[in-house]
Amino acid sequence: MEMSCFNVTPPPNPLRNGGGRGRCEELSRLVGGRAWRNEPLANRTTFGVGGPADCLLEVETEAELCSVMAHVHETSVPWCVLGDGSNVLASDKGIRGVVICLKGSFLKVEVDGQVMTAGSAVRVSQAADIAANHSLSGLEGVGTVPGTIGGAIVMNAGTHRGYIGEVVREVRVLTEAGLPLTVSRDECGFSYRSSRFQTDRSFIVSSCVFDLVPGNGEQIRAHLLEVRTHRAHSQPRGASAGCFFKNPEGGSAGKLIEASGGKGLRVGGAMVSDIHANFIVNTGDATASEIRELAETVRELVRTRQGVELEYEVRLVGEW
Ligand code: EPU
Repeated sequence: MEMSCFNVTPPPNPLRNGGGRGRCEELSRLVGGRAWRNEPLANRTTFGVGGPADCLLEVETEAELCSVMAHVHETSVPWCVLGDGSNVLASDKGIRGVVICLKGSFLKVEVDGQVMTAGSAVRVSQAADIAANHSLSGLEGVGTVPGTIGGAIVMNAGTHRGYIGEVVREVRVLTEAGLPLTVSRDECGFSYRSSRFQTDRSFIVSSCVFDLVPGNGEQIRAHLLEVRTHRAHSQPRGASAGCFFKNPEGGSAGKLIEASGGKGLRVGGAMVSDIHANFIVNTGDATASEIRELAETVRELVRTRQGVELEYEVRLVGEW
């Protein structure tokens, strides 16, 4: 789920319009050489689609992130952060500017009593397993969805059993200018599949502090296993970005799509899963445009047959 990533409409882009190679090389120096020009996003998204990022950086420390942010801020290069790439549809044309992938120290988890601090790049499922091993409850609701802590915070990810925002004490961010800041839960603006970090594009989530509750470790692990097993049966395994649409209030997008006859619909290599209708699956050779066209066909179908307007949960990123 990745991913405080933003839709970048191409403004004049210093990485493309002259001096681009040099600019990526400058950024590369700031991150110890872990930079790639024209890196295909298909390799970094669970849909397995997406054209090239102009410049993709792997950032391992807060100090590196500060200098990268200061640099992009000064040079007005568009930027975004990509987590696991599990909740995004990256365009076939790719992403202009700099794509930041957090690694290294952003993968750290600390547990102190009932308080867990997890880096932005930690997988939510790993954080939930670590909490369970410390007999701490609170992350079971979200601990079975794909994606990283950073992406889960941006999306307020969760299931019917609970959302990540419910157990957040505070979120540590870096501002666009490279300054560290702490945002309390009340300031995060969490609501269903939403947070302030979706619209306030001046922050990068670097870690999150959770207030958990002591519980029975064995029961928590059993609960996680039960939900994971249920998911394995009720959701498709193919390349997808999880549920494509948000559930409308009081309803289920999957149910509505199935009732509208959407299961099995195809556009090119993209198909509406016949296991769970809210999943669009890349059957092998789909393009991002085919996936988007299929999503629009599904939306139109549900609008006409059920009178319900579905909203994307998956986030479109890049140049469309
Ligand atoms: N249903 C159908 N047809 C379908 C799919 C579902 O009739 O094709 C029915 C089910 O039988 C059930 C109801 O719809 O009665 C709800 O289905 P499900 O339990 O699968 O839950 P969901 O609302 O479709 C949500 C999350 C999932 C999460 C599951 C399990 C959203 C948009 N989706 O799905 O999250 O895994 O609950 O807790 O909130 C994701 O975010 O990517 C995601 C997969």
